[in-house]
Amino acid sequence: MQLTDTHGRNINYLRLSITDRCNMRCFYCMPKEGIVSKGHDSILSYEELLLIAETAVNMGIEKIRITGGEPLVRSGIIAFLGKLSAIPGLRHLALTTNGLLLAEMASDLYQAGVQRLNVSLDSLDPRTFSEITRGGDLKRVLGGLEAAEQAGFPPPKINCVIMRGVNDGEILDFADRTLSHGNSVRFIEYMPAVKEEGWQRYSIPGEEILQRIAGRYTLEQLDKGPFAGPSRDFRIPGARGSIGIITAVSGHFCSECNRIRVTSTGQAKGCLFSDAKTDLVPWLRPPDREGLAEVLRFIVSAKPERHDISQDGYTHKNFTMSQVGG
Ligand code: GTP
Ligand code: 5AD
Ligand code: SF4
Repeated sequence: MQLTDTHGRNINYLRLSITDRCNMRCFYCMPKEGIVSKGHDSILSYEELLLIAETAVNMGIEKIRITGGEPLVRSGIIAFLGKLSAIPGLRHLALTTNGLLLAEMASDLYQAGVQRLNVSLDSLDPRTFSEITRGGDLKRVLGGLEAAEQAGFPPPKINCVIMRGVNDGEILDFADRTLSHGNSVRFIEYMPAVKEEGWQRYSIPGEEILQRIAGRYTLEQLDKGPFAGPSRDFRIPGARGSIGIITAVSGHFCSECNRIRVTSTGQAKGCLFSDAKTDLVPWLRPPDREGLAEVLRFIVSAKPERHDISQDGYTHKNFTMSQVGG
């Protein structure tokens, strides 16, 4: 079965956030203080998440990405992932993590049937990394990347949010790293999730990032795979890894958007930036599969054509990245 929205896009990808908690505090994702994690009752149980996943797969979703907060901090995740990966018809199960717990969990994740990992890594300098994440330990994340490959995963994709004056001096260091490491480093435009005066000062358009790399290296463009997301991918000839650009704000990829999302409290969203959300809880408590399928079909049909974040007059709202999962 195929799920198609009113703009003719095939929707085959669900992003499922399983917790709003995190063991880091990246400044672009979470405010320094005053974060109140949602109580246990409002966070969906694993049974409820599985019900959403099964319903979505029956309707035509083929890929699920688990996100957070940081998904690996939620206890019981390995057993949950084992059940998720066994859903008939699910072709691809992936997970996005900050990598802090990866060294100890990579092998269990692989055994549970996760096929790919994306790991956030915004700096290769321990001090800058600690500043961006407000205390994160770079060594642990680098160890986690290695452990993932040892456990059998293909080299994880690396997510690097580029911010002017913070880590843009490392763009070429990350590009250099792809010569010797098999990871795809995806440079992501900074999105104004945490409301802050003058957020524009951090912004660097994807095109500028690309130009800076092209100033040193020749780049060959790579074809998109079947479940390709928003990344435009390139390779330095002969490099082991690749380079991606995710223009999350300048947003060339809305026309190819293939995804819907569900937050950890069960709010379904057709677009990351949209305020429109639909509460799935009434169809989960008690479980109503048919009602849930109908409401998911509605989310798909109501998917906006594009986000308006780069338009003049965009009024910046806070959106809780740690609940939506990016
Ligand atoms: P794959 O293509 O499956 O590897 O996933 P992905 O790159 O979409 O997922 P990941 O969780 O690694 O997210 C990478 C970055 O892309 C994050 O900064 C996300 O917030 C951003 N992103 C993912 N989906 C969308 C989207 O629909 N719109 C926008 N603007 N950004 C997105
Ligand atoms: N801008 C861009 N990317 C972000 N992420 C989290 N917050 C932001 C933001 N404000 C990314 C993280 C993670 C992914 C799920 O979303 O780096 O890798
Ligand atoms: Fe945690 Fe990821 Fe947000 Fe950083 S970006 S605070 S690692 S959820």
